[in-house]
Amino acid sequence: MIEPAQRAAALREQLHEHAHRYYVLDDPSVPDADYDRLYRELEALEAEHPELIVPDSPTQRVGAQPNSAFEPVRHRLPMLSLANAFSEQEVRDFDRRARERAGEDALVYVVEPKMDGLAVSLTYERGLLVKAATRGDGRTGEDVTANVRTIRQVPLRLSGDVPELVEIRGEIYLPLAGFHEMNRRLEADGAKTFVNPRNAAAGALRQLDPAVTARRPLEIVCYAVGHLEAGSLPTTHMELLELIAAWGLPVSSLNQRVDSIDDCLRQYAELQAAREELPFEIDGVVYKVDDLAIRETLGQVARAPRWAIAHKFPAEEVSTRLLDVEFQVGRTGALTPVARLDPVFVGGVTVSNATLHNMDEIERKDVRIGDRVVVRRAGDVIPEVVRVLIDERPDDVQRVEQPAACPVCGSDVVRAEGEAIARCSGGLVCSAQREGALRHFVSRRAMDVDGMGDKLIEQLVASGRVQSPADLYTLTQDELASLERMGEKSAANLVAALERSKQTELGRLIYAIGIREVGEVTAQSLANAFGDLPALIDADEEALLAVPDVGPIVARHVRSFFEQEQNLGVLESLRELGVRWPKIEVVESPAEQALSGKTFVLTGSLETMTRDDAKARIQASGGKVTGSVSRKTDYVVAGADPGSKLAKAEALGIEVLDEAGLRALLGDAD
Ligand code: IVH
Repeated sequence: MIEPAQRAAALREQLHEHAHRYYVLDDPSVPDADYDRLYRELEALEAEHPELIVPDSPTQRVGAQPNSAFEPVRHRLPMLSLANAFSEQEVRDFDRRARERAGEDALVYVVEPKMDGLAVSLTYERGLLVKAATRGDGRTGEDVTANVRTIRQVPLRLSGDVPELVEIRGEIYLPLAGFHEMNRRLEADGAKTFVNPRNAAAGALRQLDPAVTARRPLEIVCYAVGHLEAGSLPTTHMELLELIAAWGLPVSSLNQRVDSIDDCLRQYAELQAAREELPFEIDGVVYKVDDLAIRETLGQVARAPRWAIAHKFPAEEVSTRLLDVEFQVGRTGALTPVARLDPVFVGGVTVSNATLHNMDEIERKDVRIGDRVVVRRAGDVIPEVVRVLIDERPDDVQRVEQPAACPVCGSDVVRAEGEAIARCSGGLVCSAQREGALRHFVSRRAMDVDGMGDKLIEQLVASGRVQSPADLYTLTQDELASLERMGEKSAANLVAALERSKQTELGRLIYAIGIREVGEVTAQSLANAFGDLPALIDADEEALLAVPDVGPIVARHVRSFFEQEQNLGVLESLRELGVRWPKIEVVESPAEQALSGKTFVLTGSLETMTRDDAKARIQASGGKVTGSVSRKTDYVVAGADPGSKLAKAEALGIEVLDEAGLRALLGDAD
């Protein structure tokens, strides 16, 4: 067993090293979550053994050493930090303590996004910007006035009625687009890239040459007033934010005042859902007591106020050990290297597999078996290995070799010239490809066969009973009932689900048959353009290229799909077995349709039509309907009880329509 004293010393040393790289060099080597974990461990150890606390323990200091390259600035009021909550329980405890102390039954809060950038203090004298400083250790920061002056969003002069002297606090950050652009350029120059937007922002802000800062698209959001002379403040935080905005400083449009801690938690969930679509990074939300007088009563502990707390999102990046790499074969034969990991909690779930994309990526990131790797899981995206912690590479790591033969069927693995992806050449001989094709065929957005799970498909393929999608429609209830894990009831349900799926739509069918590179949206475009299957089968490359969304690669895949007798045979069988779809009326020039080029997302329930009706009508007018809100979305149509999509739309400033609004666009008379 390691002695607590030894462990504490080891933790201090690691934390010192990480903090130096993070704060002074703007170049952290490990994900934040790793640092947090070590920090919390040291905190717990010190709480249990207070005799182990030494004055230079990282827990005894908040923030960073000011960098010597900049003049120190002593803050007139210390820049506090925030206590963190990682669970709903911790949030409720915070609220309970605050209510008890304040002697209130309920508190009004302002919920703000927790911007992932760096804190700055801006001092305005008689409305003029005279000083900008980083937070530093909370008491003394660095003078970055010259650099901050280059940020266009920071007014050099405030507007309106301004106090004699006011210090405003906010967060400087780099929007994601600017971050990616900056890294692209650094990479092109063969220079070292930044691991995240915050470090890139810190690097940009602490440039010795303001001209360099000026070329970085930094932005700012303000959230507090620090020191104030000869001026008065409103009585609530929300009004304070409005005042800051009136002076001309940017304030987050996502801030919301709410009446209870339950509403705080609801807002947390909404922002978490919207997070992936925001144009900047947030790492949680901040709850702040709205009433400024109550804040006074509550005061602060150590270096954090009792009236605010940061509710952090689960970390999206953590490190773990890469145990092995295996190759998975997809429905198109593509070999995907999959990382087998020492299980870790990331993005809110425990992950033991992550994609490594392809061999080129493995080489580019120099990933070897045995390495400590950073795993990222953001939103619903498949977890991926993003990089190696090269400083922690053990001596006995092993290179990843691409298999020469398919791990499933043994056929040769081939990699076409110029392609990053290696494929099994076995085609439908390969059971993995057959299974993949079937899984895709029955999936919800394709033929939507309810209850046809992966395990079942595996059995049907392994026994040889099902070779192609058409064979699914020849399965009998008795046959299904005799399979593993199937009872009479589920067999009957499955047969009914298969029967139901036969009444389909052309777009779904085209998507379901699994032409390479033809996703849902392209399938729908093809359906709209050709109206029926025979016309699509006969379409030449030129006709295909005229379809919106279809480029030369897709056109070639479509052609080669229909040139294979085998595929035509399957389609023929599907028809014979009763699969039906209505023809679509082809509109000659789709470019002239009312909604062409417009992308819609539907959420909530509509009154006068189903979502499917609305989707069909939008598509009939040339519009596209997609499942998730992004910056490319033009309209979100919100019915009753809309979900997080509405929140996302609002966060992104996308136009939201109600049913009447949609009808107006569709040209319905009211
Ligand atoms: S208020 C006394 N509001 O988070 C409260 N901070 O973990 C001081 N941050 O140093 C901070 N977004 O750099 C506040 N909406 C927000 C914030 C925010 C990001 C940062 C800030 C602060 C750190 C504390």
